[in-house]
Amino acid sequence: MTQKYYIITFGCQMNVSDSERIAAVLESIKYKPVQKIEPADLVVVNMCSVRQSAVDRVFGLNQKLVKLKNHNPQLTTILTGCVLKKDEKKLSRFFDYIINIKDIGKLPKILRNKNEGKKDYLRIKPAHVNKFSAIVPIMTGCNNFCAYCVVPYTRGKEVSRPAKDIICEIKNLIKRGYKEIWLMGQNVNSYGVQRETDAKQNAKLMRNKINFPKLLKMVNNIPGNFWIRFTSSHPKPSTRAKLSAGLVPYRNKVSGTGDFSWNELINIIAKGEKITPYLNLPVQAGDDKVLKRMNRPYTIKQYINIIKKVGKKIPDICLSTDIIVGFPGETKKQFQNSVKLFKEINYDMAYISEYSPRPKTMSAKMKDDISIEEKSERKRILNNILKETALGKNKRYVNKVVEVLPMEYKNGLLFGKSWHYKTVKFKGNKNLIGKFVKVKITNALPWILEGKIEYRI
Ligand code: SAM
Ligand code: SF4
Ligand code: F3S
Repeated sequence: MTQKYYIITFGCQMNVSDSERIAAVLESIKYKPVQKIEPADLVVVNMCSVRQSAVDRVFGLNQKLVKLKNHNPQLTTILTGCVLKKDEKKLSRFFDYIINIKDIGKLPKILRNKNEGKKDYLRIKPAHVNKFSAIVPIMTGCNNFCAYCVVPYTRGKEVSRPAKDIICEIKNLIKRGYKEIWLMGQNVNSYGVQRETDAKQNAKLMRNKINFPKLLKMVNNIPGNFWIRFTSSHPKPSTRAKLSAGLVPYRNKVSGTGDFSWNELINIIAKGEKITPYLNLPVQAGDDKVLKRMNRPYTIKQYINIIKKVGKKIPDICLSTDIIVGFPGETKKQFQNSVKLFKEINYDMAYISEYSPRPKTMSAKMKDDISIEEKSERKRILNNILKETALGKNKRYVNKVVEVLPMEYKNGLLFGKSWHYKTVKFKGNKNLIGKFVKVKITNALPWILEGKIEYRI
């Protein structure tokens, strides 16, 4: 009898992408996906640990899983993704297996006692859910150890994929008609720096000196009608810049190829006709002292300088950021610097998080001294500024015709993303999903643009 699987994905796009690889491995051993959890013989939970609320969601599944097991004693449950050792112990009671995301190639062995598949999990060809927009991981892991963040502990050290694999995957996607490629990594700046799994490939990557801007250029040179987006970049200065400022010892100069200057990246974005003018540049705090305690090695002045450089070369750039409010010890005055930054930058979008202490991290040892109420008030304040700046930015598109990739259809309306990564809503036919269209913007709201279809491209 055909075995059925159901995957629950929490967290960021990296986990979404990993779930597509899990699906591919399961389908290689003849498991079939189901749309609802109840008929599944196998439930895989791909978890996120970035905030306690994300972890709580997995603990919250307990009752549901027990109920399903009672109903179907043959049900197998697997936990994977970003799991902290501390939670692993407690969660092992609810799951049959807990496996490292890098070991999903072992699923055939675990489930069917079949030979193991590919060792390097990023080489597994994903079963894409979306047929026109694909996430393509270029690296995984993080070596930055920001004081608040679990990612270096859950995903381990940075590992870059060989450029050859990435280009080959994208070429195949374009051949299959994909229109949007998301280059994904926790820290794309480090692309090409370290590879611990494959020393030979690493040496090649180093020899070829393929850093992130060069990779971006290679992707842009792939023939076809498609858009390129990427996330996330880190505003830290390049090793070269740090060296000239006397900030790193000479021996660190051999940092590999991943190091790039912002000028290099900005030029590539500006020139690349397929690279969309969208930059997510997480600032995390608007105050230098808070940044220092967060172990984020840049100042607000340096951050603003990058934004200014980007704005000069790419005047229509759409800017977003990630920011944390209520980091331990963040005074009201220090928070006012985040307010000031929001007013100065005029972000199009921001992902504002209330600080959540995470085990193992450096800040877990600091006193979580900002009350829940104060954190939520600070979030509200930033959100209100964002609402205004985003509306101001969106108004620039009224009466203009923009290119849109429709993604969803609901009650006669299409919802898509524009070249500048703006959500656009307009009347249209379902069969336009995944095809570029031109839309005249008639109204601007803070989080959405409304428009009328002009014609298909
Ligand atoms: N690599 C990206 C960067 O350099 O900023 C961010 C990746 S992190 C997985 C996603 C976002 O979660 C972060 O940008 C941060 O704003 C938020 N975040 C991470 N740890 C957090 C914590 N302990 N509490 C609240 N928000 C957190
Ligand atoms: Fe986390 Fe910092 Fe790495 Fe981003 S750069 S994943 S915030 S440790
Ligand atoms: Fe992403 Fe959460 Fe892991 S944000 S990298 S899934 S801890």
